[in-house]
Amino acid sequence: MANFTRGLGIDLGTTNTVIVENGQVLLHEPTAVSVLIDEWKMIEVGQAAKDMTGRVPDSIEVFYPIQNGVIAEYEITENFLKYQIHKLVGSMLLFRPNLMLTVPYGITSVERRAVHEAGLGAGGREVALIEAPLAAALGIDLPIAPPSGNMLICLGGGTNQVAVLAMNSIIAAEIDRGGGNKIDQDIVDHVRKTYGVILSHFSAEVVKMRVGAAVEGIEDSEMEVQGQDQVTGLPRSITLRTQDIVDAVQEGLQLITKLVRRTLEKTPPELISDIMDRGVALCGGGTQLRGIERYLTKELGIPAYLVDNPTTCAAEGAARALGMMDELRRSLPTT
Ligand SMILES: Nc1ncnc2c1ncn2[C@@H]1O[C@H](COP(=O)(O)OP(=O)(O)OP(=O)(O)O)[C@@H](O)[C@H]1O
Ligand SMILES: [Mg+2]
Repeated sequence: MANFTRGLGIDLGTTNTVIVENGQVLLHEPTAVSVLIDEWKMIEVGQAAKDMTGRVPDSIEVFYPIQNGVIAEYEITENFLKYQIHKLVGSMLLFRPNLMLTVPYGITSVERRAVHEAGLGAGGREVALIEAPLAAALGIDLPIAPPSGNMLICLGGGTNQVAVLAMNSIIAAEIDRGGGNKIDQDIVDHVRKTYGVILSHFSAEVVKMRVGAAVEGIEDSEMEVQGQDQVTGLPRSITLRTQDIVDAVQEGLQLITKLVRRTLEKTPPELISDIMDRGVALCGGGTQLRGIERYLTKELGIPAYLVDNPTTCAAEGAARALGMMDELRRSLPTT
């Protein structure tokens, strides 16, 4: 009998969720849900929910159910996934899809089990998990099957992950649960200290994306944002320049280089020489900060390069992994 079961690769990220089937990106939306609190009822999901952030009455709350890569709000995560999968697959009674869900490197078995349960609760027939750096490596076609070393840096919204991979496995890795959200907080703190203006996280993120850079010497631009005067509490607009963001993000970038050094300390020397030759691949939304490849190349002394699909590669690799279960079985985390 023909096999009609569909298979979805799902990158359930702190900021964004991406769903891929057969190499096609079917969904790429914020991991956000707005809820009418009294009735505990979902109002909007994804982009529409994110757009409500900071603009709703007390009766409504916008949830980001994944925090630092792990489930913080179980029921909301399950409903979010169920809604998104149902939108793509239609009636699930007949065609429940198999799911391959990403999880951050090194999370606890309890955290992993929650993701597995949420996948089943959302309508998955069979649910398998894959660590995000392994999925991302498959999604950018790194040659990870032979016994030679490849390095990957994944900068997400709530995590930074660094991994060395060989023989379809993670050989050494490190994670810190900070990511882009921590950088946004650093921008908020920097602007408050330097100019006495309090920005929302949302504004800080927009400035980072529009005019931000990791290093000096990148084309300078500026942007006006609304904040609140720290002393009077009144609205105040402020113009921020590229240099403001360069200054604000340095501490966060240093954390990334420390993470890479810690990973290299755990890596066998043979693999390090492969990495020196091949360079280190950069993926995740955070690598869209202008000049980050220049910053990391200089700080690490290893050529760092950007990939074509930084925000979708983990989901693409997860989808691909569904067809590689025999090769990967020993490398996938158990639940
Ligand atoms: N142009 C840009 N410059 C700097 N940062 C950016 C840019 N575009 C997106 N980002 C950041 O990328 C992050 C989101 O990346 P991504 O979607 O890969 O995260 P995620 O997979 O949801 O999170 P995680 O993997 O940590 O759970 C956010 O912090 C966002 O601010
Ligand atoms: Mg991610």
